[in-house]
Amino acid sequence: MKALRLPPGPGVNLLFSVLKQKKWVDPIAHFTHLAATYGDIAHYKLGRRHILFLNHPEYIREVFVVQQANFIKERTQQRARLLLGEGMITADGVQHKQQRQTAAPAFHRQQIGAHADEIVRRAAALRDQWSTGEPHDIHLEMMTLSLGIIGATVFRTDLGEEVHTLNRAMADIMNVYNAVVLLPGIRLLLHIPFTPLRRFVHARAKLHSAVDRLIAEHRRRGADASGTDLLTMLLTAQKSLGWSDEHVRDQVVTVILAGYETTAIAMTWTWYLLSQNPLAEAQMHEELDRVLGGRLPGYDDLPQLRYTEMVMAESLRLYPPAWAMGRLSLNDFQLGEYHLPAETTVLASQYILHRDARFFPDPLQFDPERHTPESKATRVRGSYFPFGMGPRQCIGEAFAWMEGMLILATLSQSWRLRHDERHKVQIEPLFTLRPKGGMPMIVESR
Ligand code: HEM
Repeated sequence: MKALRLPPGPGVNLLFSVLKQKKWVDPIAHFTHLAATYGDIAHYKLGRRHILFLNHPEYIREVFVVQQANFIKERTQQRARLLLGEGMITADGVQHKQQRQTAAPAFHRQQIGAHADEIVRRAAALRDQWSTGEPHDIHLEMMTLSLGIIGATVFRTDLGEEVHTLNRAMADIMNVYNAVVLLPGIRLLLHIPFTPLRRFVHARAKLHSAVDRLIAEHRRRGADASGTDLLTMLLTAQKSLGWSDEHVRDQVVTVILAGYETTAIAMTWTWYLLSQNPLAEAQMHEELDRVLGGRLPGYDDLPQLRYTEMVMAESLRLYPPAWAMGRLSLNDFQLGEYHLPAETTVLASQYILHRDARFFPDPLQFDPERHTPESKATRVRGSYFPFGMGPRQCIGEAFAWMEGMLILATLSQSWRLRHDERHKVQIEPLFTLRPKGGMPMIVESR
């Protein structure tokens, strides 16, 4: 066996240093420190585990794309099984492949266009509820909107009032779930208070029974004429692959969770960034007025809404909802000059790399022009990856772009949102990059 050659890093075992300090480290501050001190690659230990933090696109591509066969969803994600069971996010190997192949047609570019009108209808209903001068927690509004959209489009079910129950259940689940799955070893470090844990179990039961109802209702109704919604595909696959009801439910829960919180967070940060960048906001409004002339947007308008897309792209750069990814190595592996052991946890952070001046000059500046075709052509490969990369890249990416752009286009035709300056904006880097304490904003007519 080849001798190990480990990259530089803090000599201390993070577990012991955390126990000594009796406090958990802020993961973003921790990664920022590693990147600033050790550069492109850093190694440390957490208990007996080897951890690598990658901070260069070449290293990241090497693990997530080139050598991907040697890496599985890292163990922290496996702990997500507590909630997601054996859904697409947590599964590995053959099971993951089967699930991804079953779901793929529902996420195909040609397929998702059919959902555009429903997304716009729901966004327009929200637009019509708002009045000028009203304060709203835009994070909550976006969560409710995008949950309704996932139900109506991906599963062709109107969640109705159940949206609010589900939203609350999800919030309870996320509060604990985020902490449980955050980083390797977290279980040892976290003293999960009794009450939130109870709330988690209770909320998960609610979520499961809501999803079971959704599936039963769908079964009763039978497939719709097109037969192409995700649930129809899952139920068809269930028969041929012999999946249990729980397994189908796991997959439904996974897609709801993966698809709704990320998109809602992306929208929330986009509204905030627009409120802070009036020139970009004005340019987006000009485009919307010119292309749409006051009518509601549709799927065919998307190619003309280039600037709106660039705004969303820049928001995903500065505030990537999925802000870090992890994998676990199956066997020893070589990365550049380093030789690492099997069972090494490898971490990479979109948030840190997207703010690296080597790849995005003046990185804290909100500048949609970074995403023109010309700029993208000169971008360092792998430096921008809000949807991940390699075979586990987000299956809902095309759907997310469509949904985000249609929401922006529909609401921005009537309203602009002003940030309530009394609220201090802070990120809460849990499983997703949430705005801490929501996002209070004031609605103003345009
Ligand atoms: C702005 C919105 C979104 C962002 C930023 C995002 C981000 C990501 C990222 C980074 C991954 C890869 C994680 C990894 O490799 O460890 C992923 C996977 C996934 N996403 Fe998304 N996502 C978004 C929207 C959606 C939507 C709308 C859906 C579904 C309706 C969805 C469903 C999934 C699923 C099922 C996976 C697992 C894929 C696999 O492992 O094969 N996502 N997402």
